[in-house]
This record gives sequence, C-alpha cells and structure tokens, in this order.
Amino acid sequence: MSVQQPKTLAIIGQGYVGLPLAMAAIDAGWTVIGVDNFEAKVSQINRGSSPVEDISDAQLQAAILKGVYKATTDFSAVSQASVITICVPTPLDEKRQPDLTLLRSAAIGIAPFVSNETLVVSESTSYPGTLRDIIIPVVNSLKPRDSLKVYFASAPERVNPGDPIWNQKNTPRLVGAIDEESQQRALAFYGSICDAAVSVSTPEVAEAAKLLENTFRLVNIALINEFTQLCSASGINVHEVIDAASSKPYGFMPFRPGVGVGGHCIPVDPLYLTWWARQNGVAAAFVESADSINHAMPKYVARRALSMVDVSIKHPKVLILGVAYKSGVGDVRETPVSELRDYLKSQGAEVAWHDPLVPVWEGSNPVDLDWNCDVAILATKQPGMQFNKLLTKGIQILDCTNSIEGQTGVKSI
Ligand SMILES: NC(=O)c1ccc[n+]([C@@H]2O[C@H](COP(=O)([O-])OP(=O)(O)OC[C@H]3O[C@@H](n4cnc5c(N)ncnc54)[C@H](O)[C@@H]3O)[C@@H](O)[C@H]2O)c1
Repeated sequence: MSVQQPKTLAIIGQGYVGLPLAMAAIDAGWTVIGVDNFEAKVSQINRGSSPVEDISDAQLQAAILKGVYKATTDFSAVSQASVITICVPTPLDEKRQPDLTLLRSAAIGIAPFVSNETLVVSESTSYPGTLRDIIIPVVNSLKPRDSLKVYFASAPERVNPGDPIWNQKNTPRLVGAIDEESQQRALAFYGSICDAAVSVSTPEVAEAAKLLENTFRLVNIALINEFTQLCSASGINVHEVIDAASSKPYGFMPFRPGVGVGGHCIPVDPLYLTWWARQNGVAAAFVESADSINHAMPKYVARRALSMVDVSIKHPKVLILGVAYKSGVGDVRETPVSELRDYLKSQGAEVAWHDPLVPVWEGSNPVDLDWNCDVAILATKQPGMQFNKLLTKGIQILDCTNSIEGQTGVKSI
C-alpha cells in the first residue's frame, strides 16, 4: 500500500461535481487522484478529453501533463490521499425515494484504503444524517487497523454547471464536521480551494441547508409555473408581470416558468427532503404540492403547442428545440422534455428534436431545422440555435424560455 502524501486529494466520482473540484484543487496547489468506477470515462479523461462542459480539454490536458492529476478505477490509490471527497450521484429509486447505493459503494470502496489521519468529506447531496449514519459506520468498520483516527465532514457541493460567474472557488462552501478536529481540517481544506468556507455546527446542518437551497428553487419555480397558467388563462403576459414585480428592490426574486424542472438536483433533492420528513413522522405537504405542479407542466406545454396547430391536422408534426434540462449544457438527466415528448406522442403527434449540444437522446438522433413541422416548441434555448430559420419559414413557435421577443408567430408560455 502506498503512503499518504501531503496536499494529495482523492475525489470519488469524476462527473459534473468531481472533475471541476479536481481542477479547482489543482489550481490551489493540490495533487489530485480522480477515482471513478466507470472505466470508459476514466480512459476518456486520461486521454485528455473532458466529459463535462465546465472543464476544457486544454485545462485537463495541462493538469495531466504537469503530473498533478490522474484518473483511475483503482480505489487503492486513495491511500496516498490526506483528504478524500465523495462526489457520487445520489438519485431516486423506482419509488422516487433516496437511493444511496452508489454512495454506500463509494464508502465501501475507499474504506480499506483510508490512511491514518485522513479527512473524509461527503459532497454528495443527501438527507441529514447520511454522513453520520451511513458513511461513517461503513468506513470505520472496514478501514485498516492502523488507521486509528479518521476525520469526517459534510460539505455539500453547490456547483451550477454552465454558470459563467459562480464556480468552485468563489462560491462559499458550507462545512459541518463530526468533531472539532475534523471541522478544523475540513475548514483548512476548503479554505485552501474556496474563497470562503462557512462553518456550521454539525454535518446535519450542512446536509439540511443543501436540501433547503434546492427546495427553495423547486417551490419558487412551481409557484411561477402555476402563476403562468393563471396569467395565460386571462391573457396576461407572465414575463411582463415578473419584470414588473422585479422592480421591487427588496423581498422579491424573479423565477421564470418553463417545461418543468430537470437535472440531477432540483427535481431530486426535494424528494430527499420529503422522504426524510416522512421518516420523522411529518409531512412536507408544500414541497409535495410544488413537485406535482412542476410535473404537470410538460402536459400544459404540450396542450398549448397543440392548440396552435390547425384542428384539421390529425397528426401534427412537432419540433422540440432544446432537450437538455437547461441552457448551455448537454445534460439530459431528468429533463422534463422527455415527458413533453411522450405526452405529445400520446396525443397523436409526430415528434422530432433538435439540440446543438446533445448528439443522441434516449436512443434517437436530432433533426436539423429544415425538418418540416406544424409547430415548434422552444423548450431549452441553446447557444448557437438558429431558430430564426423557422420564423422565416413562417413556422409558429411556442417559446418556453422568454427569449424570442416581438416576432409574429411566436407565443410565450
Ligand atoms: N451536477 C450538479 O449540478 C450538482 C450540483 C451540486 C451537487 N450535486 C450533487 O453531487 C453529487 C454528484 O453529482 P454529479 O452531477 O457530479 O454526478 P455525475 O453523474 O456527473 O458524476 C458522478 C460520477 O461518479 C461515478 N460513480 C458512481 N458511483 C461510483 C462509485 N461507487 N465509485 C466511484 N465512482 C462512482 C460515476 O461514474 C460518475 O462519473 C450528487 O449527489 C449530486 O446531487 C450535483
């Protein structure tokens, strides 16, 4: 077994969270071992090809060339690390309940190789108690005998992929550890890579704060999605209303309507919260209601788009523009556009899609903008999307993104 090296960080999971964290740590003078159990991804990364938009191939290649970064599938490499962060997915299972299988397997994977005095941090989003009740018992029961002291903290990741302003360095990081020594080590680690590390009293506070942050977004998006339907029913443009309300300098924050919520976090994390609430004998009724409103949006959008097609057309051709869950990324996880497509099809529509950042989606290929359609739905505005082509051809567009202004043939949701 190799010996622990100072300023060596092992990151478990090299995805949207793990790889940007690796590059931020390298910028701060750390050497990083990126562990991932997906062999093809590890090979791709080691060839210098970045799997995430926020990290360029050039940045990755420079780190590899300098000898300060390497990806591996071999968990034994973590024995060299003084800090190990866990950045693996925390999805929902088929009952839409927390599925910690990957988190548990990451903890099992590192445990036999955790050196004495290593700091283990969970960055994955989960319900309060995950670090203390799941990760720590696994690591402590399987760690090497001579690893007498292992430090533990929770520091939930807040990265917003594709965000040009907020990144690993300038986004303050919450840190909550199980004891004072762990807290000091975790604060020192995040203090070395982030501009600000914010100390909280326990890992549970950090875990709960992360769920609050994302639930805040979910319920506000649901509110605006509901409000949109109210405005639309009485012929008011919701975007003008949001802009008007935004002129209030305090107590209001604008959210925009859309096809629904997608991605790895906003549709998922609040269900960790509702599950956790139920475990504690309380109901998170407000959050559950917000979840249902967002889930109903794809149907609402589909109905609005179909209402723009001449009734004599029995099988309208609908082109969906943008299938990624948000602008600027090719990430289609939990995209609400899947439900939109399925509902349109169930209503007899022929559906095609176009997204410059998504080469293949659920086994189907994109079409180009020459595809002949009766109506188009701008679901996600991607950079470089030439939807003006459609307008020139006189095709009507239902704009769910508030990005086409004052054009004939365009309706806003
Ligand atoms: N993506 C975001 O915007 C974002 C933001 C904040 C927090 N988070 C949270 O961060 C965590 C990671 O999310 P992500 O978006 O980076 O996921 P991701 O799918 O992009 O990357 C996770 C990586 O972990 C690997 N992996 C899975 N199980 C593993 C295991 N047992 N051992 C080693 N590698 C394993 C996968 O192969 C994958 O490459 C989740 O809890 C998520 O909720 C994500």
